[in-house]
Amino acid sequence: MRPDLIPRDARDRMIVPLDFPSVDRAEAMVATLGDAVSFYKIGMQLVFAGGLPLVGQLVADGKHIFLDMKLLDIDNTIAGGVDSIACLGVTFTTIHAYPKAMRAAVKALHRPEHQSAGLGLLAVTVLTSMDDDDVRAAGYARPAAELVATRAADAREAGMDGIVCSPLEIATVREIVGPDMAIITPGIRPADAAADDQKRIMTPADAIKAGADYLVIGRPITAAADPVSAARAVLDEIEAAA
Ligand code: C5P
Repeated sequence: MRPDLIPRDARDRMIVPLDFPSVDRAEAMVATLGDAVSFYKIGMQLVFAGGLPLVGQLVADGKHIFLDMKLLDIDNTIAGGVDSIACLGVTFTTIHAYPKAMRAAVKALHRPEHQSAGLGLLAVTVLTSMDDDDVRAAGYARPAAELVATRAADAREAGMDGIVCSPLEIATVREIVGPDMAIITPGIRPADAAADDQKRIMTPADAIKAGADYLVIGRPITAAADPVSAARAVLDEIEAAA
């Protein structure tokens, strides 16, 4: 893995998504969690609700940010998007794993002006909400697992920094991409937490043991009666399993 993307301690391996409809609610959760959380994921819901300035504030406060934008467009537009994101000080952003789009993103990030941007490009292989029927309906005549494997290999070939995948795919993806790419996985649930709408889940300890570098874990923390205790319990589990 790129040295600047290697997590320094267990705290930096837990990424909490700020899936909120307003900036006020996101800010309130950040204030509640305080020092317990060092890494946040911000996606389209919060960005489209005016949350982009919060990205800059959190970066200025020393937090790491995964800006989950799931980009896919023509090469020129992808390059422009990555150029702009590289100036925000965020640690990760996502690109759908189409070879041309990934190559355009990597080329843009490798421009000399972004040398110290510290941005890692993550490939989204196949959304975990898609099963074989959904993949076929989208025009691919192959099972989802095969497409995940091909796209993970394509991401490595393109020079991407990491892969987002389901915890159940960690072992397969690790075999394909080797030790140099980061694996980030959502679908994490502590043993005593509700699954919510996640179907293919793993505990924090099992995902770390399976080879995940970073875990995205939301509602078990943000919807808990005591979010700080819930976050600390996940961190303890990550630390014990690492
Ligand atoms: O609350 P929860 O832990 O389910 O949040 C998981 C986060 O990871 C959400 O922001 C969700 O959109 C995201 N995610 C996911 N599954 C994927 C990709 C992203 O759950 N395959």
